[in-house]
Amino acid sequence: MNSPAAELRVDGVRLLSRLDELAARSAPGPGVTRLAYSAEDEAARALVGSWLREAGLQVRIDTAGNVLGTLPGSAGLPRPLLTGSHLDTVVMGGTLDGAYGVVAAIEVAESLRGRLRHDLVVAAWSNEEGARSTPGMVGSRAAAGTLEPAWLDSPDDDGVPLRARLGADVLTARMGPVEAYLELHVEQGPVLDTAGTVVGAVEGITGQLVGAIDVRSTANHAGTTPMALRQDALAAAAEIVLAIERLALDGAVRVATCGHIRVAPNVRNTIPGRVLLSVDLRDMSDARSEAAWSALVAVVAAVDDRRGTRSQLKVVSRVAAVDCDPCLVALVERAAAARGLGALRLPSGAGHDAQVLSMLGPVGMVFVPSVAGVSHSPGERTESAHLIAGAQVLLDVVAAVDDQPRC
Ligand code: GLV
Ligand code: MN
Ligand code: MN
Repeated sequence: MNSPAAELRVDGVRLLSRLDELAARSAPGPGVTRLAYSAEDEAARALVGSWLREAGLQVRIDTAGNVLGTLPGSAGLPRPLLTGSHLDTVVMGGTLDGAYGVVAAIEVAESLRGRLRHDLVVAAWSNEEGARSTPGMVGSRAAAGTLEPAWLDSPDDDGVPLRARLGADVLTARMGPVEAYLELHVEQGPVLDTAGTVVGAVEGITGQLVGAIDVRSTANHAGTTPMALRQDALAAAAEIVLAIERLALDGAVRVATCGHIRVAPNVRNTIPGRVLLSVDLRDMSDARSEAAWSALVAVVAAVDDRRGTRSQLKVVSRVAAVDCDPCLVALVERAAAARGLGALRLPSGAGHDAQVLSMLGPVGMVFVPSVAGVSHSPGERTESAHLIAGAQVLLDVVAAVDDQPRC
């Protein structure tokens, strides 16, 4: 790099107005709904592609639907610097989860054009959320070479398999090793906001086990079937939902959630004959998540025995907990201090593309506060000054890694 980091500045006004532009690419309804592979997602990806081109990057879409912009470095170094996040959202999500890290990464590229030794690749990873009941982090898993071929044929909530969304070539999206992957994100939890600290230096990212439970019985008439002779799949599922919560309340796993449920036939005067439940278990110890899943399998078997239901459980996907690179954690703290910002080390309770991309090289993450810790909700908010500060820290860290990759 030719000039001191202090001269490098992101354009905060452009950053905020681009976030507004992306927020407008949403299905109708509260908050932002930009499901992976939807028309809104396509529109957001096209917009980001145009911004990347405007910033002078060479843009390509890989076979996993990742939008990748490359800024060539001056030194012909083999491993690029990689930064970005995702554009898809959950149903009724916020404006910042994912979009912020992508827009900020474009600011980094704008500021560093013509100054880098390494190639810089800016990425908008596809389908991070898995909000259609697919595995999450599909684009980054494809880039990391860890996308399981079996997932391609599983139908999503709309009955469409990933293979039909992406094509069979998705497995060729694998990237080579990188010098470092850096991702900026809103914290999505309360730690920074409560502490009044602007920058989070992420030390590690939680592991996640996603499961599905299919509870079956026989649908029957709600008026004529005596209580002793019915097998109510929804009543059984209700017990299972409480058992999922209990796993975390009893300390078997850090957090445990059933957030998605489908009931059939979903009719007032019919005893439910089938219920599909999602399971989301998270812990920094993958072994604890596995043990909690095994405990749940036993609870479901007991519910089936007692109620005469028949349940099938399957693990939909796993993502391992990872540690961020200690050198990158320290660089984030140093960059924050150099800008007069406080920094706190913390783990990430949310999943991120970064943990998957740790297969390709060292990863680091920068967090900024989420007001009241709210995310995956239309109420997701971060102070504008904090959004700009976080992007500035990302820029300074990328510049520092380019200068001196090994610490
Ligand atoms: C992604 O947002 C996740 O943590 O589920
Ligand atoms: Mn999310
Ligand atoms: Mn996210």
